[in-house]
Amino acid sequence: MERTVRLRVNGHDHEFAVPCDETLLESLRERLGLASVRETCGIGICGACTVLANGRPLSSCLLLSVLAEGLEVTTLEGLSGPNGALHPVQQAFLDQQAFQCSYCTPGMILSVVALLAENPAPTPEDVARYLAGNLCRCGSYLRILAAVQDAAARLQAAHVDRSDVGIARSMPTPGR
Ligand code: FES
Ligand code: FES
Repeated sequence: MERTVRLRVNGHDHEFAVPCDETLLESLRERLGLASVRETCGIGICGACTVLANGRPLSSCLLLSVLAEGLEVTTLEGLSGPNGALHPVQQAFLDQQAFQCSYCTPGMILSVVALLAENPAPTPEDVARYLAGNLCRCGSYLRILAAVQDAAARLQAAHVDRSDVGIARSMPTPGR
């Protein structure tokens, strides 16, 4: 049995028919070709399949697409700016070399975007707590922590720029 589902993904509206047992992870990867959404455990433990749903991290392997009707979904492909500029969290991960194999990285970056939107200056304990659902098998946690602190500083500087000189409708905003 199939049902039609409507989703907004990375700023674009999509409508397609899905079997009732298809997960959001499968729809994003197989129907929309969003390869950054990765599957490992398939049971909500590893965080490799993390997307932002209405700005909050969501394990897309746990949600049936038919239940995702109306959600606004962001994947890593939707983070960069219109001119292709990397989001500050992406740039911080690159600059801090916060990955090895990078399998966990898309989900990790999306969770960090959500974390910094909620808490612009997290302590290391806040970071560990928030990212507990994103596992890194390569053990890059110390570099990931450095990337979070780097990204927080970049976003705070961007905020200061905004209020001081009013430029910033062009600055990337977490979760958008
Ligand atoms: S694949 Fe979804 S949490 Fe592991
Ligand atoms: S960098 Fe390899 S799993 Fe995290």
